[in-house]
Amino acid sequence: MKSIVLTVTVLCASLWAGAQQKQPVYLDLSQPLEKRVENALSLMTTEEKVSLCYAQSKFSSKGVPRLGIPEVWTDDGPHGIREEVLWDEWGGANWTNDSCTAFPALTCLAASFNPKLSLLYGKSIGEEARYRNKTVLLGPGVNIYRTPLNGRNFEYMGEDPYLSSHMVVPYIQGVQSIGVAACVKHFALNNQEEWRGHINVDLSDRALYEIYLPAFKAAVQEAKVWSIMGAYNQFRGEHCCHNDLLLNKILKNDWKFDGVVISDWGGVHSTDQAVKNGLDLEMGTYTDGLTTNGKFPYSDYYLAKPFLKGIKEGKYDIALLDDKARRILRLIFRTTMSANRPYGRFVSPEHSEAARKIAEEGIVLLKNDKQFFPIGSGKYKKIAVIGENADRSLVVGGGSSSLKVAYEKSPLEGLIAKYGKDHITYSLGYASGPALYGREEPSKLNADSLINAAVEVAKQADVVFFIGGLNKNHFQDCEGGDRKSLSLPFGQDKLIDALLKVNKNTAVVLLSGNAVSMPWINKVPAIIQGWYLGSEAGNALAEVISGEVNPSGKLPFSFSKKLEDNAAHFYGKISYPGDSINQYYKEDILVGYRWFDTKKIAPQYPFGYGLSYTSFNLGTLSTNKSVYSKEDVIKVRFTVKNTGARYGAEVAQLYVNDPVCSVSRPVKELKAFEKVFLQPGETKVVEMDVKVSDLAFYDESRKDWNVEAGDFILQLGNSSGNISQKLKITVK
Ligand code: GLC
Repeated sequence: MKSIVLTVTVLCASLWAGAQQKQPVYLDLSQPLEKRVENALSLMTTEEKVSLCYAQSKFSSKGVPRLGIPEVWTDDGPHGIREEVLWDEWGGANWTNDSCTAFPALTCLAASFNPKLSLLYGKSIGEEARYRNKTVLLGPGVNIYRTPLNGRNFEYMGEDPYLSSHMVVPYIQGVQSIGVAACVKHFALNNQEEWRGHINVDLSDRALYEIYLPAFKAAVQEAKVWSIMGAYNQFRGEHCCHNDLLLNKILKNDWKFDGVVISDWGGVHSTDQAVKNGLDLEMGTYTDGLTTNGKFPYSDYYLAKPFLKGIKEGKYDIALLDDKARRILRLIFRTTMSANRPYGRFVSPEHSEAARKIAEEGIVLLKNDKQFFPIGSGKYKKIAVIGENADRSLVVGGGSSSLKVAYEKSPLEGLIAKYGKDHITYSLGYASGPALYGREEPSKLNADSLINAAVEVAKQADVVFFIGGLNKNHFQDCEGGDRKSLSLPFGQDKLIDALLKVNKNTAVVLLSGNAVSMPWINKVPAIIQGWYLGSEAGNALAEVISGEVNPSGKLPFSFSKKLEDNAAHFYGKISYPGDSINQYYKEDILVGYRWFDTKKIAPQYPFGYGLSYTSFNLGTLSTNKSVYSKEDVIKVRFTVKNTGARYGAEVAQLYVNDPVCSVSRPVKELKAFEKVFLQPGETKVVEMDVKVSDLAFYDESRKDWNVEAGDFILQLGNSSGNISQKLKITVK
C-alpha cells in the first residue's frame, strides 16, 4: 500500500513540477520597485543578465523575453527625437511617422536663464520621446564651454557650472516625469571634438570639482537622473566609459548614483575595465576597430561573450554582473514597466508653443544703438534680408543631434509673415556648401557675385537684416570636429563690410552655438545673438525684431575679442587641443568670465549680458544678517524696477568674491540668479537664498570642500560685466 501511495505521490509531484514548469514565470509587479528588481534578478540566468549589458542594434539593447522584460530603446538627442535608423546603421530608415518638433539648442535654453522653461522643455521633449516609444533620451549635454572652437558647444549650457547646474535639473525632471530616462552627457571632460576618441585629459582636482563636475553632480543628486553617458576621451589614463575614479569612486560611491552608465557609441575599449570600472551598458562598439561600420555580431562586444566567459571561469565576480543587471532592470522598471507611466504626444501645438517661447526668451540683444530695434511693421517700406542663414535649415547636420523635422520656420519665412512679402527682398549673400559629417564641401557658387547681388539689394533698401553666423557643417557647430578660428566663416565679414558701405542701416543677426569675432562691431548699429532656434526659429526672431516680444536672453558664455584672449588658448598647444595624446587644462578654475575678470582682459560681450527694449534698476541690496556661521543660509534681498515703457524681464545675477583665502579664487563666481518679469513702472522684491556652504572652494589638501572664515563680497548686477552693488558679509 505504502509503495502505491509513495508512487502516486511522486507521480503527482512530478506532474505538479512539470505543470509548474510549464506555467509562464510571472514577475511580481505588485511589489515596490527595489523588490521587483530583486525578484526579476532572482529569476534570471547568468546569460540573461549578461545579455542586458550590451547593444543588440545601433540604438537598442536586449530585455529578457522569457520574463516579459522589454528591450531598452535609446534615441538622440537633446533638442528633438532623432529619426528611426536601420537596425545597425547611422543613416535614416526613411520612416514616415518620425518627423519631430525641433526645440531650440540648449545654449538657447541656457541663455533664457529661466529654469521654468527648462522644465517645460524637458516635459515637451519627454512627451515626444515617449510617443516614439523611447526608453532613454540621449541628452541633455552639459559639458562646460571651455573653448569657443568646440564643435559641440551648441548642444551644451555654457561656461558657468552654476548656470548649467540650475538649468539642467528641471530639464531632466521634465523628461523623467513622462516616464522616459534622461541620459546626461558626456561624463566627463569632453570639452572639444579634436581627438575626442582618445585625448587623455588632465587638470587640477579643484578645476575638476569646481568647474567640470557640478552640472553632472546636480543631475545625479538633485534631478535623480536615471542614466548618464560616459565620454569618449580619457581622463588620467582611463577612458571615461570605464574610468574607476569617475564612475566607481565619484559617481557611484560618493554621489550614490543608482542609474545606468551608458557608453558613448564606440567609447568602450576593454572588457576588464568595462567590467570593473563602472560601465553598465555598452553601445555602438566597433569590435574590429578598423572601421566604424564593421559588420560583426553584437555578441563580440566587450561586455558580451568575453564578459560571460570571465564570469563562468570565475575571473569576474558575479556581484559585478548583478550590479549592472540591477541598474538596468531599475531603469526598465522606472520607464517601460512602470505601472503608472504617462503617455506622450508628438508634434503637438503645445510643443510648438514651448519651442517658440524658449526661442523667444533665449534670443540675446547685444547692441541696439538709437533704438534700432524694434522695427514695427509699418516703419520701413523696403526691407532687405541678406544671408544664407535666413533661408537654410539649421536643424539638419551637426552630428548626432541632427533632426528630421515636421516643419522648420526659417527667419526669412518669419520675416515675410511679419512684414509682408511685398516689403521683403532676399539675397543669399554668402554660401557654405552642404551640411556633411566628417568633411566639408565648399559651395561652388562664386562668392563675389553673391556679394555683388546682395549689395545691389541692400542699396535699394530702407533697412538691411544680415542673417548669418555659423551652421551645422563640419568645422562649424558640428560634432566630430572643432572650428579652426573665431572668425565668421564663408566670407561673411567681407560681405557685412560691403553691405555697410552701401547702407549703414544694416543690423547683424547671428545664428550660432558659439562666440565669433566681430571686426565690424563699431560700424553696425544693432546685433542680435540668435541661437539654433529650432522649428519655430522664424516666428521667434520675427516676434523679437518687430517688438511683439521684448528680448530677455543673457549670454551663457563670454564673447572674446580675439581667440588668444580665451583661457584655453593662452597656454599653448598642451592646453588646447593637446599634443594629440595628452592635454592639460592649464587655466585651471579660470574658465570663461572667471578668466576675463581675474586677468583683466575685456571681453567683447561678457557672460550674463543682454539688452532689453526697456530698462531696469536693481534696488538696494541687503542681507538678513552681516555675520554667518558655516551652516547658515544667506538671505539676500533687493528690488527690481522696470524703469522703461515696455513689459520685459531682467535677470538679476548674484556673484560672490572671497578676497582673502588660502588659495587663489576668481574675482567673482555666480551663486544665484533670478529672472524677473515686470510691467512698465512695476517694482518687485526679490529674495535669494545662498547657502554659506555654496561659497566653498574645493580644498585639494583636504580632498573636500572648504569655506574659510572671513569676509565675502556679494556682488549684484545684470551681467558679469555690470555689477551695480556690493555688500560685504562675514563668515565666522
Ligand atoms: C555620438 C555622440 C553622443 C550620441 C551617441 C549616439 O557619437 O557623442 O552624444 O548620443 O553617439 O548617437
